[in-house]
Amino acid sequence: MDSKTISGFSKLNKIGKIRWIAENFFKDPEAVVHELKSFWYANEAKQKVLDGFSENTISNFPMPFGVAPNFIINGEAYTIPMVIEESSVVAAASSAAKYWMSRGGFKTQVLGTVKLGQLHFKWKGDFQKLVALEKRFASYLKHEVKDLTYNMNKRGGGIAGVRFKDLSSEIPNVRQLMIEFQTCDSMGANFINTILEKASEILDRFLVQEDSLTGEEKDYEKIMAILSNYTPDCLVRAEVFCSVDELGSFGDVEANELASRFCTAVQIARVDPFRATTHNKGIYNGVDAVVLATGNDFRAIEACGHTYASRDGQYRSLSYCEVKDGQFRFWMDLPIAVGTVGGLTNLHPIAKRSLELLGNPSAEKLMQIIAATGLAQNFAAVRSLVTTGIQKGHMKMHLMNILNHLDASEEEVDAVSEHFEDNTISFSEVRKYVDRLRSA
Ligand code: MEV
Repeated sequence: MDSKTISGFSKLNKIGKIRWIAENFFKDPEAVVHELKSFWYANEAKQKVLDGFSENTISNFPMPFGVAPNFIINGEAYTIPMVIEESSVVAAASSAAKYWMSRGGFKTQVLGTVKLGQLHFKWKGDFQKLVALEKRFASYLKHEVKDLTYNMNKRGGGIAGVRFKDLSSEIPNVRQLMIEFQTCDSMGANFINTILEKASEILDRFLVQEDSLTGEEKDYEKIMAILSNYTPDCLVRAEVFCSVDELGSFGDVEANELASRFCTAVQIARVDPFRATTHNKGIYNGVDAVVLATGNDFRAIEACGHTYASRDGQYRSLSYCEVKDGQFRFWMDLPIAVGTVGGLTNLHPIAKRSLELLGNPSAEKLMQIIAATGLAQNFAAVRSLVTTGIQKGHMKMHLMNILNHLDASEEEVDAVSEHFEDNTISFSEVRKYVDRLRSA
């Protein structure tokens, strides 16, 4: 067997896994073992909790945990926890938060909280017959899963609706059952998937028992049951507005010009998918950072947002801007399915602290906080792009990363920062300059 493949890897203990990797993939195995072990939690119980989240864990992967203060959302002040590896993101969020703090803050509103699950199956009958049975099946389903939905019902959630969809014109005999859920403060993935798998058995039984169906109309073949991460009706609106004059100037761009350039930039992202992708990436810089910090699933939320951004057939900016009657308004509607109970939210020690920092919000409140952070991020990025350009701030942070990498002393940091105020920053140029300082 090739030394780079192995059977029974998962059966090795953690140090056995590390040793196998260190010895077969690295030139300096002892250093690798030491380094990976150095990121273990000293507290064994805490490490066990983290190890429980995934498989074949060998160490922890540190990411910066930062905060952006001064967010005013619907009149309430928040300091927002953010986990992100990209420099300038937290600084940009903080700067936009402070800017809007003196202009009324962020206004947010939950527009819907519907989560969705799909059961795909093969069925040969006339689709209209299924549609006619929708109501009856909905009651039957709710009755049959009442033990499973008991707790969720008590909290005000549960199954909210049922509809059949016909996919047979594209894939022979394939139909879909879409179930709408309310999952209160939980993300609800396990709840939804459990109900969906049960719904398959229940639909099979229902079709057999249904008097209006005969022959092959009673035959049911399950394909798959899983939640849909596209939740266009689990939606939150975030907006900021002020008079154009109040915008003030930025760099050497005065308020009127800033408003006009800003809106044009957003319009470009509405019509051009290449720009829209980068524009929306800026939104998700903020969104993902809060989603991660609060122990939620950023892949689900991004996947959903990008589908939503393409809902009319073209990928577009998620945000909008309008200047009308001397008023500047910048807003977006974003689908965000998150939870504040269950899952990692209560198990991850820092996610738990993040939620505490936010005042232990409900899922609806967290949707609003996340949307405001995404809009702040988008505002800061677009404002920089249409005024000073993005590189100025970015490269300042990048310079600090380079200096850390070069183990620069405080005096070197000062000298380098001064020199590169007016010179173009690149790794090689900074290294050259530091070498020169060191050999002087
Ligand atoms: C960089 O991470 C994000 C930006 O590119 C977003 C944008 O261009 O709007 C600055």
